[in-house]
Amino acid sequence: AQMEKAGGVPREELLKLDRRPKIVKQITNLIQRKPKEARIIEPVPINKEDSTIGRDALLADIRQNLDKGLSTLLTGEIGMGKTHLLKLIAKEKGCLYLDSPTPIRQFLQKICEKYCPDWNKRLPQKNRSGVKEITELLTGVFAGCARKETLIIDNLDKLRLSDVGPILSLADYFVILAAADETKERLKQVWWKFKKIELPPLDSESEKALIKQLTAGMVIEDYNLLETHIISLAGGVPLAIVEMANQLSGHPKIKDTDVRELYHESGVRYRDWSSLLFVVWGAAMVFRFLALGVHSFENYILAGFSMAVIATATRILRSFGRR
Ligand SMILES: Nc1ncnc2c1ncn2[C@@H]1O[C@H](COP(=O)(O)OP(=O)(O)OP(=O)(O)O)[C@@H](O)[C@H]1O
Ligand SMILES: [Mg+2]
Repeated sequence: AQMEKAGGVPREELLKLDRRPKIVKQITNLIQRKPKEARIIEPVPINKEDSTIGRDALLADIRQNLDKGLSTLLTGEIGMGKTHLLKLIAKEKGCLYLDSPTPIRQFLQKICEKYCPDWNKRLPQKNRSGVKEITELLTGVFAGCARKETLIIDNLDKLRLSDVGPILSLADYFVILAAADETKERLKQVWWKFKKIELPPLDSESEKALIKQLTAGMVIEDYNLLETHIISLAGGVPLAIVEMANQLSGHPKIKDTDVRELYHESGVRYRDWSSLLFVVWGAAMVFRFLALGVHSFENYILAGFSMAVIATATRILRSFGRR
């Protein structure tokens, strides 16, 4: 009917294309039905990595700090999205993104290449010049500048204690946006230079939005099950959501069993082991009582010993799970 409307093809011509048996055609003519509506499939974002969800307020704080010339440190657990935000700001400002401050020489060279391309010529000992000379050259270049450039340093907690000096000098001439998993005590001097912003887990609305974005285009049996299951395992960590979506992306059609099989490392590894160990521990305890009943001293000691070993193993696994 739509073709008829749009293209002006005569109805008789269209009816010729209908190859169904006559009786079926007559019955369908008797019952007038609305044409089935096509299901709208949402467009899949071209690059899923590019969009950022649920961090608007945080990004506003970061931008505000940088505009005021305040060096800022993003802290947050592994996978909370620090690198994601650093790269976003780097792109926005067109400034240098450095993935690690170690090895310090390569790190400094990358900065030189951007801000002082003839750095090699300007150093007295050329390639053999030390970290100190390179740092001095850089600070010299910027000493006269009124406006500070922005520098983005990821994984700043990887900094070696011996390399603190160069970073502190850079902090005087650049506005630095950095990220760290943890602010270790040994680098206290460095952390003092920064205003800290902690990345919280995503709220559940953002988790939902991220799941929706990552599963766009997938064929899913029960979307609600998938959503609640991922949220219950992810704990607001974007990396967990991304990983679980990747686990699903291999299936042509995502069934409920696929969803139930989903796991996320941080949660499940310990849980599976501990329940098994608990059962074995219970068995050892039963065995111990039996040994007591039949007055078998050796077995009584053996069972007691096994229980101690299992309890220790559970402890160790638990501490791994928490890491
Ligand atoms: N707000 C967000 N919106 C959409 N995707 C996000 C968001 N935050 C993080 N991601 C995605 O989650 C994944 C993990 O994020 P990212 O690598 O930035 O974490 P991280 O905090 O740097 O982790 P690590 O401590 O291991 O360096 C990436 O694929 C990233 O694109
Ligand atoms: Mg990172």
